[in-house]
Amino acid sequence: MSFTHRKYVAFKPVRKTDRRWPDRVIEQAPQWCAVDLRDGNQALVKPMGVSQKQRLFDLLVKLGFKEIEIGFPAASQPDFDFCRKLIEEDRIPNDVSIQVLTQARPELIARTFEALKGAKQAIVHVYNSTSTVQREQVFELDRDGIREIAVNGARWVKEHADRTPETQWTFQYSPESFTGTELDFAVEVIDSVNAVWRPDQGQAVIINLPATVEMSTPNVFADQVEWVCDHVRHRDHFSISVHTHNDRGCGVAAAELAVMAGADRVEGTLMGNGERTGNMDLVTMAMNLYSQGIDPCLDLSGMAEIVETVEACTEISTHPRHPYAGDLVFTAFSGSHQDAIRKCLARRSADDLWQVAYLPIDPSDVGRRYDEVVRINSQSGKGGVAYVLERDYDISLPRWLQIEFSKVVQQEAETNGGEIDSLTIHRLFEEKYLSVAPAWALASYDLHRDEAGVRAHVSFGRPDHPMQLEGQGLGAVEAVVEALKAEFGVVVAVEAYDEFALGEGTRANALACIRVSIEGAHYSGAALAEDTTSATIQALLSAVARHVGTDRPAPAAARPAELSA
Ligand code: KIV
Ligand code: ZN
Repeated sequence: MSFTHRKYVAFKPVRKTDRRWPDRVIEQAPQWCAVDLRDGNQALVKPMGVSQKQRLFDLLVKLGFKEIEIGFPAASQPDFDFCRKLIEEDRIPNDVSIQVLTQARPELIARTFEALKGAKQAIVHVYNSTSTVQREQVFELDRDGIREIAVNGARWVKEHADRTPETQWTFQYSPESFTGTELDFAVEVIDSVNAVWRPDQGQAVIINLPATVEMSTPNVFADQVEWVCDHVRHRDHFSISVHTHNDRGCGVAAAELAVMAGADRVEGTLMGNGERTGNMDLVTMAMNLYSQGIDPCLDLSGMAEIVETVEACTEISTHPRHPYAGDLVFTAFSGSHQDAIRKCLARRSADDLWQVAYLPIDPSDVGRRYDEVVRINSQSGKGGVAYVLERDYDISLPRWLQIEFSKVVQQEAETNGGEIDSLTIHRLFEEKYLSVAPAWALASYDLHRDEAGVRAHVSFGRPDHPMQLEGQGLGAVEAVVEALKAEFGVVVAVEAYDEFALGEGTRANALACIRVSIEGAHYSGAALAEDTTSATIQALLSAVARHVGTDRPAPAAARPAELSA
């Protein structure tokens, strides 16, 4: 099999010297139209049944969509039945317009109006293909022939609508495969359709420009849209809509640039389900606006419900990296990301504008929790591990211990090859630093301060076999270090030492962390206790125990060979 690019030709963009759209910014949400129940549905392996359609329709209404394309009733009996059900059971809110698609054929248009009988308001969407490829190879018609199909369709739609004035009608026309249509021809067809519908005389009209197949970079699509807006007649009297597909992976970008180029309205589907690579994803585009401080005019705060409903209705699962909605999109595994997120969140006050590294939006805005933000695997660094201990166990580690402990966690992650949960992180911390061998458990201490410094008396070990230490130093730590030297013959150099008062609601009041070096080796210990001195002495005993042996401390005189080994 050969992989040859030579059978493809580059898309020829319109020559444009007056483009204005690159300097525009989007300042308000477009009019949205959800086409999940039509375009999305026709792309499903198993099209939705009436109850699934109803469930998705109800969700779309709840999210705030005011225009919802519900099907192609003339082509599908379930779509016809669903349309009737909505109307007959009065399930369409007064401020919502249903939209239905039809080809420009008289019998299909007649059936479409039958499906819509009794609707308070509705959008009839008629389309025909206008692209060069479709004209030449599918329909074998010239430009006039294709334009005639569109004009006849427009006429039949108008005639039916005129006969049923009790419904408030909006007419929509799509030059299907617009992206493959010569622009002058697209404008010619649109003008011809509008000459029938007369938006300039008050008829509500939407002209929808579909990127039926995404054929170019989004800037080229924006040029096409701007060109049409500049050249059609009566531009101020009708809406320009875009309907992008995602063949090149840029469906959202194309719709965004098209809005900058003059489109008033955007069609798409939730999570981007649709033909081939899908339709423009409404969730992503709306959330993109939201993340720029623009009201998307849709309420996407219940993202879990959106994902669950779309998955249930389409039987397509959501990619864990799906923008704004995927399971993993508010999760950081990388150590440097975790560290930055932790610092930004710690500095943030509730009313601050959102400026958190690596998180384009506040996860809680879409019903997610900060807890989900940091997860730990072998890529994680000290920041993430420290964040989890702090968040879940109120344990703040000094930087030196963050670095040391993150290596312990990383090793565990590399060994088990996956994610390390919060419980495991805590267990590892306990095993490595907090656990106290019974033979080294602090029982009591007594400190006497005078001008010479501190004299420490420490009692530790099993109740049936307690040991006493006594030493003098400038502070409590130094006094205990001296006592350990006297008892076990170990020269302990304290390299790092930190103590913290703990938050309310914890059993212990203080955490102490200490790192010592003994005979060139480093040992760390940590301890939770009711007061900082107890925590400090216990942490020191635990660190030294790792050198001396955790089982049964013996005085220096009793074990000289072992200790000097
Ligand atoms: O993609 C498309 O061109 C369509 C039209 C029917 C609007 O879905
Ligand atoms: Zn489509």
